Amino acid sequence: MATYQATASAPVNIACIKYWGKRNTKLILPTNSSLSVTLDQDHLRSTTSSRADASFEKDRLWLNGKEEEIERDGRLWVCIDALRKWRQEMEQADSGLDKISAYHVHFASHNNFPTAAGLASSASGLAALVASLSHLYSLPQTPSQLSLVARQGSGSACRSLFGGYVAWRMGEKEDGSDSLAEEVASREHWPEMHALICVVSDAKKGTSSTSGMQRTVQTSPLLQHRIKEVVPGRMDDISKAIREKDFESFAKITMRDSNSFHAVCLDTEPPIFYLNDVSRSVIAVVEELNRAAGKPIAAYTFDAGPNAVIYTLEENMPKVLNLINRFFPQEASFANPFKMDWQSAQVPEGFNTKVVPEGGWEKGAVKSLIHTRVGDGPRKLDDGESLLNEDGMPK
Ligand code: DP6
Repeated sequence: MATYQATASAPVNIACIKYWGKRNTKLILPTNSSLSVTLDQDHLRSTTSSRADASFEKDRLWLNGKEEEIERDGRLWVCIDALRKWRQEMEQADSGLDKISAYHVHFASHNNFPTAAGLASSASGLAALVASLSHLYSLPQTPSQLSLVARQGSGSACRSLFGGYVAWRMGEKEDGSDSLAEEVASREHWPEMHALICVVSDAKKGTSSTSGMQRTVQTSPLLQHRIKEVVPGRMDDISKAIREKDFESFAKITMRDSNSFHAVCLDTEPPIFYLNDVSRSVIAVVEELNRAAGKPIAAYTFDAGPNAVIYTLEENMPKVLNLINRFFPQEASFANPFKMDWQSAQVPEGFNTKVVPEGGWEKGAVKSLIHTRVGDGPRKLDDGESLLNEDGMPK
């Protein structure tokens, strides 16, 4: 008997223009377009295996070995259902195809980074599930079409179906058929983009993005200004900066948009605070580095939590690593995957160390660092890498 299974991995993405707010919570249609950089799966990835079999009694999913419920009409269910319908249409049009859409599916999913790192695992996780099931079903849909499905699992997941620099166009239609992700530039276009994730807290965040953003939609007048006056221009400007590999503009826009996003959080009633003192201290260090360098050479951005992501070009990463390691000593030693000599990096002359508390932060204020760079889109993996055993149960 044939075995129907597929395994795929998908990347994490970190937005430079933030998605914050939905105009339709069921279809997950955003109130503004957004843009992100896809990070390298060599360092951060979610992997999902899916298998369809006549003997399975229901759809089941195991996340990092623990079974999660697939709630009917829930986000996960909606994604699986949409892909199954596409397969059904193919089977109806071609009687030679195996009728696997009638079978239940088992999924096993794994993140190679600790969920406790506070990184958004939902984006890479949902994208890996959509990629793997689309391979299992041999779907002809393009990554943009698949992004329509991933979007309904978690908004930011739609951007993880592409590598490089990715825009999520908000679209106008009520049915959401034009709210999809598109590549702005490939990773090969600007491969020098590196990212340093400073893990500030591994505590579970207080306000989830899903509930926080709707509170902002309901109460923040500043969000209306952001949606109408701020984001559209920034989408154009940052796309141009990426096309022209203009890091200065890219950095300015990225930092301003992170600050604009945290400003609308503060403008929410009751206010939402994601940044803490350590986050603000990372901002101060990056701002001072840029001032001393005479131009922006690094850019910070923060999602719905206190962790900082610092974008910088490869050539400037040693300086960034030098400063972060100096002022924010960690408990765990830094893995240094690119073997950069940051210890002897020259920090720009005139850098004012007074921006950080005397002597730097206590050990562990930044718990760990993850150094990565711009990466590729979802990868199809061999059966040898399957997370499911012969019986279709998690390994
Ligand atoms: C701050 O995609 O996690 O990271 O659509 O409700 O699942 P849901 O929200 P989610 O929100 C991400 C918000 C953000 C900004 C961004 O990634 O653009």
